[in-house]
Amino acid sequence: MSRPFATIDDDGAPLKVLLVGAGAMGHTWLGAVQASPLVELCGIVDLDLEAARASAASIGKPDLPVGRGTAQLASDVGAQAVINVTVPAAHHPVSTEALFAGLPVLGEKPVASTVAQGLSLVAAAELTGQLFMVSQSRRYNRDLFAAKALAGGLGRLGILSADFFKAPHFGGFRDQMDHPLLLDMAIHQFDMARFLLDADPVSVFCEEYNPAWSWYGGDAAAVASFEMSGGERFVFNGSWCSPGQETSWNAAWRLGGEHGTVLWDGDNTPTATVSPAMDGAAVTPAGAAVVKDPGSEVHGSLREFVSALRTGTPPMGQVHGNILSLAMVEAAIESAATGQRVRIDALLERAYREAVREEKRPDVAAVLDSWSIDGAFSAAVALGTAPAPAMPSRVS
Ligand SMILES: NC(=O)c1ccc[n+]([C@@H]2O[C@H](COP(=O)([O-])OP(=O)(O)OC[C@H]3O[C@@H](n4cnc5c(N)ncnc54)[C@H](O)[C@@H]3O)[C@@H](O)[C@H]2O)c1
Repeated sequence: MSRPFATIDDDGAPLKVLLVGAGAMGHTWLGAVQASPLVELCGIVDLDLEAARASAASIGKPDLPVGRGTAQLASDVGAQAVINVTVPAAHHPVSTEALFAGLPVLGEKPVASTVAQGLSLVAAAELTGQLFMVSQSRRYNRDLFAAKALAGGLGRLGILSADFFKAPHFGGFRDQMDHPLLLDMAIHQFDMARFLLDADPVSVFCEEYNPAWSWYGGDAAAVASFEMSGGERFVFNGSWCSPGQETSWNAAWRLGGEHGTVLWDGDNTPTATVSPAMDGAAVTPAGAAVVKDPGSEVHGSLREFVSALRTGTPPMGQVHGNILSLAMVEAAIESAATGQRVRIDALLERAYREAVREEKRPDVAAVLDSWSIDGAFSAAVALGTAPAPAMPSRVS
């Protein structure tokens, strides 16, 4: 699920990046940008100019250019790429603006507020030929990579579970959200499940609930059972109001295959127990000793973004595949609301119709139109598992 994109030759100088969004997570990104020799911060954008100035001052650069508009400041300072760390509602407008300014984008999760807006961004990336990568920072974890390598020794994989039990008192917007756990947290584990299994979601049945003692207004607990494309089942069992014996923020994982099981507590080195093979020979967990270091969290995704731009190698979070992690969230919420199992292809079809209805740019609308084959949405064409058809010119 990837598409080619424009590369930027490595001339030996760091890539000039513009940070958009000077909030809490923007501060984390500032640290990563400052720490990396691969990039150079050339400006900060925020609707709140004072926040942008304060961020610049916090890293000892009070004279760093700041502004409210992404394309304008990018042009003023000669930015080569944008890091979008705005609130989810601003992901679609800010990333669209950057892509059409000819800039590749590294955006915070989720890809956008809705799958429909995410599809519009897939189309914008297609049209501009620019890379749009979503930073799913929990993928960049050496132990997660090790767990996946160990899974290579289990034969066929079938059973994956993630237990997530925390008890944070955030205060603020999360306490009022309708689906705090599913919307704000579970996308991390859903995305990690896609990574561990090398599989995509087919359908989900989900139940949301709010324990009697919960301090959240919306449902802070959920159980979701996904069917995945290899026939595997992935079960997420989580709560944000479970004091005592809390799990890792990464969740606690169990991955079962035909020859054995991998356990990962989310914080330490994973382990594998492998049964003797049918012929009596021991099955060795493959690859565990040669796990490549993916870097840590946003540091890792920043490194992969720059590497992708330099080499043309599609990164893990390219929007075409990443959108399925948000689709898992939307499908789980829909299932919880309706009491029905929800198919991902049906959800994508509905999101596509919404994207076509809502699209404001005729050029993006023409790309969306080209994903309709015999009147039905083709996820294979849209998300890059099939060749893109020649784009028809749109009659408006
Ligand atoms: N990967 C993770 O673990 C992780 C953790 C926390 C947050 N996040 C994600 O990071 C993003 C930002 O979260 P946050 O906690 O920093 O939010 P925040 O509210 O603290 O900051 C967001 C900033 O974006 C600015 N902004 C909003 N609309 C804008 C626009 N159109 N143009 C320019 N600036 C705009 C706001 O003024 C604010 O300063 C969210 O998508 C969130 O999901 C990811």
